[in-house]
Amino acid sequence: MKIIIIFISVLILSCDVDRQFEKNNFDTTNLNLTQQNHPYGYAKKECFYCHVRSNIHQQNTLGTDLLDAARGYTMIGDVTRCKDCHGDNGL
Ligand code: HEC
Ligand code: HEC
Repeated sequence: MKIIIIFISVLILSCDVDRQFEKNNFDTTNLNLTQQNHPYGYAKKECFYCHVRSNIHQQNTLGTDLLDAARGYTMIGDVTRCKDCHGDNGL
């Protein structure tokens, strides 16, 4: 019973939250961007032309402890730090 109540509250609480997080396609824990895994964004440096800040680094599908740092840089929009984890993106 308890679990059902919790479930329903979570459902209700979630209602007005717009969840459109980006999904990543990393098939390993290698976060390095290449021409293959980043065909549209490769060699482009203005990451936030295409990536919506509030939609990225939200879901920890890889189970890493890197997301706190990543969210910090994302929040302040510091694209000079993306390469710390994602490589130079061909730049
Ligand atoms: C011109 C648009 C564009 C720009 C600019 C861009 N990206 Fe992307 N990026 C995409 C698209 C579209 C995808 C998802 C589809 C795909 O796999 O290419 C993506 C996917 C990604 C992914 C997930 C890759 C994976 O394998 O799951 C990462 C990480 C990423 N981008 C980081 C960056 C960083 C860092 C920059 C800036 C240095 C950047 N992007 C600039 C369009 C862009
Ligand atoms: C401290 C490491 C770190 C830094 C710095 C970092 N990222 Fe990421 N990023 C990650 C990790 C880890 C993931 C994979 C998250 C998951 O799914 O587990 C990721 C995933 C992504 C994705 C795929 C969508 C998603 O939400 O998973 C995009 C796009 C992306 N990063 C863009 C950027 C951009 C743009 C910057 C620079 C502002 C940046 N990252 C800086 C660690 C980092």
